[in-house]
Amino acid sequence: MAFYPQEPFYNPVIPFNGSIHGRLQEGKSIIISGRVFPGANRFHVNLQCGSAAGADVALHFNPRYDASPGYVVTNTFQNSRWGQEERKHPTPFPQGSCFNLMIQVGRDSFKIATNGSHFMEFRHRIHFAAVDTIRVDGMVEISSIAFQSPQPCTPQPAYPPQCAFPPHRYPPQYAVPGVPAGYPVPSPYPPPVVYTVPYKSVINGGFYPGRTITIQGVINGAAKRLDTNKSGIV
Ligand code: GAL
Repeated sequence: MAFYPQEPFYNPVIPFNGSIHGRLQEGKSIIISGRVFPGANRFHVNLQCGSAAGADVALHFNPRYDASPGYVVTNTFQNSRWGQEERKHPTPFPQGSCFNLMIQVGRDSFKIATNGSHFMEFRHRIHFAAVDTIRVDGMVEISSIAFQSPQPCTPQPAYPPQCAFPPHRYPPQYAVPGVPAGYPVPSPYPPPVVYTVPYKSVINGGFYPGRTITIQGVINGAAKRLDTNKSGIV
């Protein structure tokens, strides 16, 4: 039977609860692309068992900025109590930066990669098969949450992270001192990487139903046409 991977969530409104089709399985990956607000105090990504308030959380991934440099807290929330925190310094996600976060389900642990490099492992305390919801909250904006099913070839994480966001606009609940809510502030992040056209690259693992390729660009003012080819011969 053909298995069609779950479609990504694009530009979800934060706080966001999304359901994970088929729950978590060994080898499945979740790839989150986003940007931390400048001046952020914290945000978190939860892999949880249901979306109800007080649901168990198998992985709480929580970058914090209340010390310099920032750091990441990981933990579980079970039977209405937080477990033992694991902390890692420094954070791979500075305030104002774009990031990729990839969480892969291993048999014994979540393997967490940030911006294409291994960051940490978090040993399972709650069985991953109970996880059916991803929640994102705090001072962050998210461009996509994508899912990769178990597969023999190595996943190809998006790296370096691409910023596809307009200038910052703080939601009213995250007012930053001195910046009126809803007021755009200049973006401190570097411009996205620009590839030379014509551009050619191997697609690791090939194409299959549900796989998504996102191409961002600006059309040349003098352009007459635009070609994108996917060829079986590389
Ligand atoms: C608590 C905090 C929670 C969560 C937890 C992780 O202090 O209120 O939001 O981050 O730590 O251990």
